[in-house]
Amino acid sequence: MNRSTLTQQFREIKIPGYEKVVEVKDASSGLHAIISIHSTLLGPAIGGTRMYNYRGFEDGLNDVLRLSKGMSIKYAITGQGFGGGKAVIFGDPKKHKTPALLEAFGRAVDTFKGKYITAEDSGITPDDLFDIRKGTRYIIGLRHENCSGDGSSFTAWGTFLSIQATCKQIFGSPSVKNKVIAIQGLGAVGEPLAEMLYWHGAVLKVADLDESKAKKVAQKTGATIEDPADILRTKCDILAPCAMGAVFNDETILTLNCKGIAGAANNMLADDYHGQMIQNLGIWYAPDFIANAGGGISAAAGLEKDNFDPIKTRELIDEIYGRIEQVYQMAKSKNMSTVKAALTIAEYKMKNKIGVRSRPPVYHH
Ligand code: NAI
Repeated sequence: MNRSTLTQQFREIKIPGYEKVVEVKDASSGLHAIISIHSTLLGPAIGGTRMYNYRGFEDGLNDVLRLSKGMSIKYAITGQGFGGGKAVIFGDPKKHKTPALLEAFGRAVDTFKGKYITAEDSGITPDDLFDIRKGTRYIIGLRHENCSGDGSSFTAWGTFLSIQATCKQIFGSPSVKNKVIAIQGLGAVGEPLAEMLYWHGAVLKVADLDESKAKKVAQKTGATIEDPADILRTKCDILAPCAMGAVFNDETILTLNCKGIAGAANNMLADDYHGQMIQNLGIWYAPDFIANAGGGISAAAGLEKDNFDPIKTRELIDEIYGRIEQVYQMAKSKNMSTVKAALTIAEYKMKNKIGVRSRPPVYHH
């Protein structure tokens, strides 16, 4: 441990199935965080840092465990040679976030010597990354000339392809022309997604808690504005949740009025078994960790030797279409949910080290 981490206390929490989970406290800055490395079987673990006022320690722990495992699955499927990790910082970002706290967090990340690479997530802005960077070089998503910048439009494109693959599965053609697509959430991903769908001829229904965002998108795309309370149960061909996680639970699934679901929201299913519930209703569900991988792919692409390459990155994101198709085929032929099919593929790749990283990542910042 170097001098700069002397004020920090580290406590390892043993969690079966996870490589390393560590609680960090730093008395001088008030930092309280958990860093979870789920797996480095395929390469260093990548995953953003979330700052949130959790109700208690267990809430934060459960979140970081769930999210870091999700990142392993996401990167196993993208095949870029990375594993899954995640970090949570306890506290209200509006009240408790200071440059000193972020730098202390960076120093904690640094103690993993590159086994964990951090990035932004809810509560952490791209500007905050510069403070974290003071404590560690193991970070992606910093704005500089050699990186992808904001990954949201990459995420939107992958989501668009997932909607097309879902249309192919349901209607026999990937075209979204005249298909009714309902989007929940018109933020960094939902808005560009709405535009892509508009240009491809889709009929849009949209909702956002922030009415001004819904009005802005409706004006540009001719979308019908729905009440946010109704958007998940509105009649449509494809439902695209692009807001919060855990939107599908025992109750909301029973009110669905769509033929397919493909959106960007992370952890849409409150539990994995909801994937089967959705399938039982004859609705095709594109697993979120494949559909929304575009941003993660573009961020990781910034760690390749030759700087960020937008063309190669697009080629990688274009593969999302085929991955969703593969999952639909497997679910059909093996009579399993699409989530189970996707998890089976990811676990097979991890176990057999398919796509393992052959050279270390390069930090261009
Ligand atoms: P954002 O914060 O920019 O936008 C979210 C939008 O959803 C906001 O406009 C908000 O007002 C709206 N919203 C929240 N609750 C709502 C509700 N109940 N009904 C209707 N609208 C609601 O977030 P962003 O970046 O667009 O991400 C959207 C989702 O996609 C999140 O779940 C995020 O974790 C996930 N995601 C985003 C990626 C990215 O590249 N930005 C990458 C992978 C996943």
